[in-house]
Amino acid sequence: MCKRKKKKQQWWSSAIRAAASDSSTKRSDGKEEEQKVLRLTLSDAELASRGFSVRRTAEGLDVGALNEVFARVGFPRRQEERLRRALDHSRVVWLSSSSESVPVAFARAAGDGVFNAVVWDVVVEPSCQGLGLGRAVMERLVLDLRRDGVANIVLYAEPRVVGFYRLLDFAMDPDGIRGMAYYYRKSSSTTTN
Ligand SMILES: CC(C)(COP(=O)(O)OP(=O)(O)OC[C@H]1O[C@@H](n2cnc3c(N)ncnc32)[C@H](O)[C@@H]1OP(=O)(O)O)[C@@H](O)C(=O)NCCC(=O)NCCS
Repeated sequence: MCKRKKKKQQWWSSAIRAAASDSSTKRSDGKEEEQKVLRLTLSDAELASRGFSVRRTAEGLDVGALNEVFARVGFPRRQEERLRRALDHSRVVWLSSSSESVPVAFARAAGDGVFNAVVWDVVVEPSCQGLGLGRAVMERLVLDLRRDGVANIVLYAEPRVVGFYRLLDFAMDPDGIRGMAYYYRKSSSTTTN
């Protein structure tokens, strides 16, 4: 686990951004699609040198420990069996530290695997925030989705984290399109989470 919170630790700033994909991809119509080069601010090796392992499946993830991280950042805890099922249907990226199964940073996306994906549950253990780990999991999640060919990646951002997602090239209301959400509001006597 991270020892201390360091708001502006800059160990990534000197790191050479690791090229993580080709600068162009072939579209199905055969035309060359110029695409923004997707790069990782910190390579897996750089993260490993700082004690963090990159994980790309939910296998071995302690969902109870994930729930603890959720609780520590103010997210609701989920029923573990339901959370496990949600993970089974998601693309996930997470970082473990001293304990193999305990996440210190986590992000997941659910979608159709072809066109669209929605990002959920982006969290970093509070004692590890400000170290570039949130960016590390989000960069990898976006990269993995792009490698799947998924071009439409959306998320809900709480106002206090809009700036974080902007740095990752997410835009508010692109082309004037408004996000809309239908929320089922459960009564206080039932639990669906
Ligand atoms: C939001 C969160 C995931 C960011 O993770 P993190 O590891 O602390 O962020 P990083 O260290 O990777 O920061 C990367 C960059 O984003 C910036 N950043 C981080 N949080 C930010 C915020 N809330 N607003 C604006 N910029 C932010 C950092 O300053 C850094 O920028 P820099 O490279 O120019 O210095 C983390 O703070 C968290 O878990 N918060 C609680 C849960 C939450 O709100 N999740 C999002 C739900 S919508």
